[in-house]
Amino acid sequence: MPAARKPIISGNWKMHKNHFEAIQAVQKLHYRLDGDDHESVIVTVHPPFTDLRSVQTVIEADRMKIELGAQNCHWEDHGAYTGEVSPSMLAKLDVSYVIVGHSERRQLFAETDESVNLKVKAVQAAGMVPIMCCGETLEQREDGEAESWVEGQIVAGLSGLGGAEVASLVVAYEPIWAIGTGRTATSEDAQAMCGHIRGVVRGAFGEDAAAQVRIQYGGSVKPGNIAELMSQADIDGALVGGASLEPDEFAAIVQYRNH
Ligand code: 13P
Repeated sequence: MPAARKPIISGNWKMHKNHFEAIQAVQKLHYRLDGDDHESVIVTVHPPFTDLRSVQTVIEADRMKIELGAQNCHWEDHGAYTGEVSPSMLAKLDVSYVIVGHSERRQLFAETDESVNLKVKAVQAAGMVPIMCCGETLEQREDGEAESWVEGQIVAGLSGLGGAEVASLVVAYEPIWAIGTGRTATSEDAQAMCGHIRGVVRGAFGEDAAAQVRIQYGGSVKPGNIAELMSQADIDGALVGGASLEPDEFAAIVQYRNH
């Protein structure tokens, strides 16, 4: 892995933890990580919107190296969009990474490749880094359509971006059948798809973008499987759901080099 691709491990807390619980969790995580961990790995946490201000405050007060992330946002800066949160509001809270197009949002909240594309651009325009998610269903994998499906999501989600913009973002490959099921993709399958994604980026945006874009794997990542996943050539990090809720477990994932 080129030095430019510093590993990035992200905790997606989904709809878990109120702001008191979130403060406790981030403090515990902070105590379990040392300077070497932060030298080697970018660590991001993505609490629910209602927790962001509280978590931002403790990160700043204790000068933590943990990066603050969000799980979603709208693409407009402001306007009559009841219930939505804008990229500039997140940026103002020192949010630096925003998950875009998670499969739960695509499946449960009707997000499309078009809205994902608008959000990727809006997040970058606000100075933050999108973590754009992609991934196939079990049915698509069994039908041999996984690669073409994911390729379509990458091409559509990144449509209109330049090579430098693609180089700076994060793609998370999360096979839907591996999310919350305890069933991880094998490291070979995960590597094969992440290598394919890098190839798609190379074809559409050039060699520099392919060499620099960071690709995470997500889906039942645990302390016991992270080291092997991270040893794969095209896997630069992980997007962790369930195991990120428990600071000890998440810290053990971040410290995969010690396993
Ligand atoms: P789990 O780690 O719980 O499988 O969730 C993965 C995920 O969806 C992260 O965004």
